[in-house]
Amino acid sequence: MKVLVTGGAGYIGSHMLRALQDQNHDAVCFDNLSTGHRDLVCCDNFIEGDLADRTLVSDIFANNNFDAVVHFAAHSQVGESIIRPDKYYRNNITNTQNLLDVMIDHDVKKIVFSSTAAIFGNPQYIPINEDHPCDPINPYGRSKLLIEHMLADYDVAYDLKSVALRYFNAAGADARGLTGERHIPETHLIPLVLQAASGRRKDITIFGSDYSTVDGTCVRDFIHVSDLCDAHVLSLNWLEKGGSSKRYNLGNGNGFSVKDVVKTAERVTGNSIVTIDSPRRAGDPEILVADSELIRKELGWIPKHTALETIISHAWQWEILDNGGNL
Ligand code: UFG
Repeated sequence: MKVLVTGGAGYIGSHMLRALQDQNHDAVCFDNLSTGHRDLVCCDNFIEGDLADRTLVSDIFANNNFDAVVHFAAHSQVGESIIRPDKYYRNNITNTQNLLDVMIDHDVKKIVFSSTAAIFGNPQYIPINEDHPCDPINPYGRSKLLIEHMLADYDVAYDLKSVALRYFNAAGADARGLTGERHIPETHLIPLVLQAASGRRKDITIFGSDYSTVDGTCVRDFIHVSDLCDAHVLSLNWLEKGGSSKRYNLGNGNGFSVKDVVKTAERVTGNSIVTIDSPRRAGDPEILVADSELIRKELGWIPKHTALETIISHAWQWEILDNGGNL
């Protein structure tokens, strides 16, 4: 297949390009490099640009015979979305609509969409399956939920087929050390914890120790980024075979607290990690754990790296490599 990957220079996108390459698919990476990194893009076809530039996007579709699109390009920080909702609604919603409209114009009608567990808000039950009500508690989650509604409406009106994958907490790195997580500034728990373990930062702040969880800290379901990418490949194959539109939750079904992550990282790295307790961070749901039975059953998704130790050790390998081995 020939696949356009928007946001391919980002954390998950750069792993997706590797997954497509491993499966001998032809990929074109489109990224505005606002948060992505050119050196993490493994495919030859890289186009720097923004989805806001509809003429450019249209030219790219006119010059390529795409079979499908995998759409990662978006802003994705919960905290930032609360103080800059304008940024999230414009980039995530308006620019996605540009992309969908150009796809329809050029008769490309298959898309795998990067959605999020943030569409659910505070869970009414755990684990969260696809039937769980969607009631996001931050603009980021609301922006992604609205896109899921757009996809459903475009299916009815224009026969656009989509698979929306709701990621729980993407983590880890390519097992071969070929790419990994590099957000600037970093806000995600596992890379920050590992930077504290490597000495790149002094300590890690724990946002909230008064939640109603076993140890008072938030609980998350960490899913290996390469397992996420496998789910995208399966979704592309499903759409290629003429499959209908789908929405799947993607996680391992195991919840780990922020303190569990710190303890596991200390075990994996052999280094001690200094933690500082601080108040809750706005927009954080207390607990997020996925029920991913549906994608296992319907698409045969089998995650390979389910242990938190493995996820953290791959992220640790990347932390060492990406830091120039300078620890
Ligand atoms: N945390 C800390 N200290 C830090 C960073 C994070 O205690 O320095 C805590 C957070 O408060 C949260 C947990 O660690 O309880 C995980 O935080 P992350 O920022 O790593 O991830 P989030 O759960 O906020 O968000 C991630 C993605 C979102 C997605 C969400 C869905 O970044 O895009 O998972 O589960 F919506």
